[in-house]
Amino acid sequence: MAALGITVALLVWMATLMLISVWKQIYSSWKLPPGPFPLPIIGNLLQLDFKNVPKSLTKLAERYGPVFTLYLGSQRTVVLHGYKAVKEVLLDYKNDFSGRGEIYAFEAHKEKGITFNNGPSWKDTRRLSLSILRDYGMGKLANEERIQREVPFLMEAFRKTQGQPFDPTFVLGYAPCNVISDILFRKRFDYTDQTGLRIQKLFNENFHLLSTSWLQLYNIFPSYMRYLPGNHRKVIKNVYEIKSYTAARVKEHEESLDPNCPRDFTDSLLLEMRKERYTKEPWFTFDNIAATVADLFFAGTETTSTTLRYGLLILMKYPEIEEKLHEEIDRVIGPSRIPAIKDRLEMPYMDAVVHEIQRFIDLLPSNLPHEAIQDTMFRGYVIPKGTVVVPTLDSLLFDNQEFPDPEKFKPEHFLNESGKFKYSDYFKAFSAGGVLSLWLLPARPWRPELQCGRSRLVTPESPDGSGSQKTTTWEVDPPGHCGLRTHWGQLTLGPHAIPGLPANLCM
Ligand code: HEM
Repeated sequence: MAALGITVALLVWMATLMLISVWKQIYSSWKLPPGPFPLPIIGNLLQLDFKNVPKSLTKLAERYGPVFTLYLGSQRTVVLHGYKAVKEVLLDYKNDFSGRGEIYAFEAHKEKGITFNNGPSWKDTRRLSLSILRDYGMGKLANEERIQREVPFLMEAFRKTQGQPFDPTFVLGYAPCNVISDILFRKRFDYTDQTGLRIQKLFNENFHLLSTSWLQLYNIFPSYMRYLPGNHRKVIKNVYEIKSYTAARVKEHEESLDPNCPRDFTDSLLLEMRKERYTKEPWFTFDNIAATVADLFFAGTETTSTTLRYGLLILMKYPEIEEKLHEEIDRVIGPSRIPAIKDRLEMPYMDAVVHEIQRFIDLLPSNLPHEAIQDTMFRGYVIPKGTVVVPTLDSLLFDNQEFPDPEKFKPEHFLNESGKFKYSDYFKAFSAGGVLSLWLLPARPWRPELQCGRSRLVTPESPDGSGSQKTTTWEVDPPGHCGLRTHWGQLTLGPHAIPGLPANLCM
């Protein structure tokens, strides 16, 4: 009898808890954008296909409209889909939604640095970093020179392969890695340097793992999954390793700092730290500097290197596009000169191809998560403080009105009838806050320049699972030309397949 009483009491207690939880959801959702009804604990996870979250979001947008609410576990999330809604959030409401949604694998950066910082130091760190980056040539001539200086090293690395098959992943990665590391700590890695290689491997592995279902689940249930084995541990460990590398560079810099002559980005941050020495709560600490430098190093290197790698893959797939690029390179730059930013004005086809590569590879389809920093009225809804806000970028990059046949790689998406470059406001691969990312733009000259090399480009195993592998050869400076020529050849697979190859790049 007593046991029955306890069971009934337990059942009543559980039912009450469930009712309270459902009531809380309904009450707090009263003025939220529409969305599927969330289940306790898991929220709307059943509505998401973790192998293709962007596609699930598109399906939900078809049902609930361009602004909808999702619960990822218990985390309230508002998703924006399509040009108008995304632009409104990124531009008109940029302050209200300027927080950063937490990415738990970056616990080493909690409340530090730029990219993953949601703490009080974020705004100042970002503002100061931007202004120092400008001093060191962001978007200016100095960066162009840095890139031009790096080009011969990259070409030499290609030449050294002497037509043998090789995996381009890290060879390509050294170039952006060196340009960024020159700004951050005036350091250049030789293309055989093992530390440079290790850093790149950590970047590459993290970028790949962060897009896997496991890491996405970890971001939703960090406290449940934290103690389980799995790849989240690897990412967390890698993040700590990268940060301890940058911390060591910062320490070296501190020991040899000359306040009258800052050498680089790190020195400038250290000087800022010295200025704050006597304040009660200095926000610019040693740890914050290490995280800031690590953020820029990772965000700048891996995005650029992956874009270059996919770009080459695309050229292999579309030889007719490659041929047209060669014609333009030969005509505007010629065989001996290193490309410069000013050439861009006369190279509409190259400009269009570069934009189309970035549109097509859709590097960060769901953007980085933003967060509402205060209760915000948006389109008649109330979005409470702390809500994660996801301004999807693929919904613009694959808009079928703006880019007809969006699933096809067509440089014509960025060309007008007379073959001139056509700007599109839907091109938001860098999101809108991408002031820092836009730093990449001067990097363009190295793309045509990249193309003077004879080597073999190893492409990954075909994603259709057939196991077929392909190699392509590149000819260095074929007579009368400057440029990469790819030729389909024998099949070979390098040790590092390109992780997370988008389906639209299947060979
Ligand atoms: C193909 C290249 C790149 C792409 C597609 C890209 C894309 C993005 C995107 C979508 C965001 C999120 C913006 C937002 O929160 O709304 C972002 C943030 C960021 N990017 Fe890039 N990026 C690229 C290159 C770079 C480079 C070269 C740097 C070097 C400094 C960089 C540094 C950053 C930083 C520090 C942030 C965080 C900014 C913040 O929280 O305010 N990115 N990037």
